[in-house]
Amino acid sequence: MTYRLADEFLWGGAIAAHQAEGAWNVDGKGVSIADILTAGDAKTQRRVTDGVQEGNNYPNHHGIDFYHTYAEDLELMAELGSNAFRTSIAWTRIFPNGDDEQPNEAGLEYYDKMFDKMHELGIEPVITLNHFEMPYHLVKEYGGWTNRKLIDLFVHYAEVVFNRYRDKVTYWMTHNEISNQAGINLGAHAQFFVWTNSGFVFNGDETLNEKIAKMVQAAHYELVASAKVVALGHKINPNFKIGGMVNVAPFYPASPSPKDMLAFQKARQSRDWFSDVHINGEYPVEIERLYEKFGFRPDITEQDRADLKAGTIDYLAVSYYSSTTVKAVDNPDNFKNAYASYEVTSNPYIETNDWGWGLDADGLRYSLNELSEMYPHTPIMIVENGLGAYDKLEDDQSIHDPYRIDYLKHHIQAMEEAIVEDGVQVIGYLSWGPIDIVSAGTGEMKKRYGYIYVDLDDFGEGTGRRFKKDSFKWYQQVIASKGSDL
Ligand code: BG6
Repeated sequence: MTYRLADEFLWGGAIAAHQAEGAWNVDGKGVSIADILTAGDAKTQRRVTDGVQEGNNYPNHHGIDFYHTYAEDLELMAELGSNAFRTSIAWTRIFPNGDDEQPNEAGLEYYDKMFDKMHELGIEPVITLNHFEMPYHLVKEYGGWTNRKLIDLFVHYAEVVFNRYRDKVTYWMTHNEISNQAGINLGAHAQFFVWTNSGFVFNGDETLNEKIAKMVQAAHYELVASAKVVALGHKINPNFKIGGMVNVAPFYPASPSPKDMLAFQKARQSRDWFSDVHINGEYPVEIERLYEKFGFRPDITEQDRADLKAGTIDYLAVSYYSSTTVKAVDNPDNFKNAYASYEVTSNPYIETNDWGWGLDADGLRYSLNELSEMYPHTPIMIVENGLGAYDKLEDDQSIHDPYRIDYLKHHIQAMEEAIVEDGVQVIGYLSWGPIDIVSAGTGEMKKRYGYIYVDLDDFGEGTGRRFKKDSFKWYQQVIASKGSDL
């Protein structure tokens, strides 16, 4: 079955400033939390260092030099046929320390030029305010988002960019994948999640409940900040569409055993409250109960609750890569604490990529339906989806990536079924990393998502030249046919 999507549907790609721009200390930019993450790989976690230290490879320092190449790179996006492009504003280009009184004019001018270029090319900017790149100074001086003061600092930053780009940007989103940190019980990954979302590190001797308490309090401040920004944005320009952004990796129960079903439900509850708060302006009851029982979130005021209600989002931005299968933890205290009720297990029905990420296109249709059941009145924009893979640049400068075309084809098909067959309201599809960029999770260049190959290695060495992969032509045809020619 083929489907043709509406003319106004947004097609394109998405990146983040810290993974693409490089120029980490140019034109007044401050150090961000991404600038002190070392390189890792499929088996090695990235490390957070105490400031920039000699002798480490910090891949975000070079990115793909998008800071200087954005105009040509955006022209390639236009050649793909994109009518939308997502990137983030690097908070540290505007407020190098996060608590500066005056914004950095050079940073503001840079995004002026970038957004002008997008409009010149007929590309709608879709802009993230906070994509894993808060100012490092806010970590050192304030403890990251564990400090309530971050709310006002973030609102101030948003106010400056909303006013500046009032007539250049309509689609905004607040925090990228705010819900990642719900994976607090997922061993080594938990540190990466709280660092990128909330800007703190664990001491190493906290109990799981102490870790949860810290995360939950920080997340509460992020949600309040997001809501205040939404309300403010609507005052600055009533036409703004301001979203919240979550990762949707649908949970599947490992078996039909009642215990696994409960574990699956608890896993969902431990994560879905982020989008609930964004959309409903309040925490769901089971989460209120959980937090009260364990004292996870002592600082929540009546004003916070009013702010959450007053700043609900216009659309839900989601990333989708794969699904997660969970089983019950074998512990008598199971199900008292949603975060400790489940563990992730493999799914025999799903193959994985070289980084262990499950390949599950049906999971996208499932997720879109699930979100539509939960939030029937909130439009959804897919702002990330794609396959990280090793690509080979051939001698004749071609790159054959049938695996990427196959992945995207099935996912776009699944999205179209959700839209046309199931009636889910999806307003755009922006695939992740349309041009190769530094991986957020591993810091590698060789984990590539693009339709456009960038000739750089994990150390930032190479010509930096751009080459079209086979998937470039394929995505061009998808967009030109409004999704009917997959
Ligand atoms: C999302 C992030 O988690 O997944 C992106 O929003 C990230 O920043 C993307 O790049 C893919 O993850 P990775 O680790 O393969 O880069």
